[in-house]
Amino acid sequence: MKQDTKLIALGRAPVRAQGPVNLPVHRASTILSEHLHGYLHRFDGDNRYDNVTYGATGTQNARALAEAVAAIEGGHRTVVTGSGLSAVTMAISAVVSAGDHVLVPDSVYGPARRFCVGVLGRYGVRTSFYDPGMGADVARAMRDDTRLVYTEAPGSLTFEMQDVPAIARAAHERGALVAMDNTWATPIYFRPIEHGVDISIQAGTKYLAGHSDLVIGMITTATDALFRAIADQAHAFGDAASPDDCFLALRGMRSLSVRLERQSASALKVVRWLEARPEVKRVLYPALESDPGHALWKRDFAGAASLFGLALHTTDEAAVARMVDGLDLFRIGSSWGGYESLIACNRMPIARDVVPWTETPFLLRVHIGLEDPDDLITDLEEGFARLGA
Ligand SMILES: Cc1ncc(COP(=O)(O)O)c(C=O)c1O
Repeated sequence: MKQDTKLIALGRAPVRAQGPVNLPVHRASTILSEHLHGYLHRFDGDNRYDNVTYGATGTQNARALAEAVAAIEGGHRTVVTGSGLSAVTMAISAVVSAGDHVLVPDSVYGPARRFCVGVLGRYGVRTSFYDPGMGADVARAMRDDTRLVYTEAPGSLTFEMQDVPAIARAAHERGALVAMDNTWATPIYFRPIEHGVDISIQAGTKYLAGHSDLVIGMITTATDALFRAIADQAHAFGDAASPDDCFLALRGMRSLSVRLERQSASALKVVRWLEARPEVKRVLYPALESDPGHALWKRDFAGAASLFGLALHTTDEAAVARMVDGLDLFRIGSSWGGYESLIACNRMPIARDVVPWTETPFLLRVHIGLEDPDDLITDLEEGFARLGA
């Protein structure tokens, strides 16, 4: 089955039965057992993973979403979590123990960095950071106790690409696992497991849900052992997504591919226009030929999401505030992947351990939604006029 058909056909109510097209919302804490024997053995063996046994360990809606996402990811099975961040923290913490070492790219999503250093550090797991530009050379940063090499491409805020297949080969040669935060590309444009990754993480909050109205996460694994370890971890921590959010995520998933196609085309149009503007120092977007990560992106990715970084020549924050505050279509906000355009501003440099970030004092982050790109360009053009005013 082709990817676009999977988005439509999977995770539905039984198709031939008389009833609604979509699986109804099963709101539940208690799941009743038919008899005492069934109750006593409800978590035995595979029951805990396969059956609906308790609200917090997965309703019918979570199961349907997980099944669809696993197929789209080309993975074994998927654990649905309460947020994108909990997908990151459950995936990492499920596979490490005290005494282990984790390697994380310097460009990683900030809260993931804080989790590794702050929380895992307290539990005796050490984290060190590596240059996201390292491919096979990541082996040099590995130690005998390295259990996990984490990846995220492109990196949060700074958009560096990573050579994921080379990193996966190097990590596996030394006996480590590989996880990837693939929220930017989604499995429509990059399928981590097909490129050697063991654990694929997605903040479904962004493009998959697509309407800026829920938080949810997904972890898809290459093997059954990893699926069980991560599902057990999520259950142990009581991490769960609500059935309503699973329903909405599945509804968003139906249009994921067409939204991405349109948003990606609009982003490229806006980005090319921005590149030619005198106010713009640099656009950070791997789909651009001028981007340092372009060759890797072109080799491995089937498309580009509609989120990019924007460095301006001006260092005058008040001028940037005049520009941004007056925008009509671009609203100020930090989540992304919805149907609407957004702009955010981050003070730089952000925390870095091995590759200092030299572009200062701030970096804009732009998300292109489903509006007509010409209107978005007009909005930005008027913004640039305020910048110089
Ligand atoms: C790359 C990346 N991963 C994970 C997350 C976390 O997702 P959530 O907001 O659902 O916790 C985010 C959120 O901004 C993100 O940008």
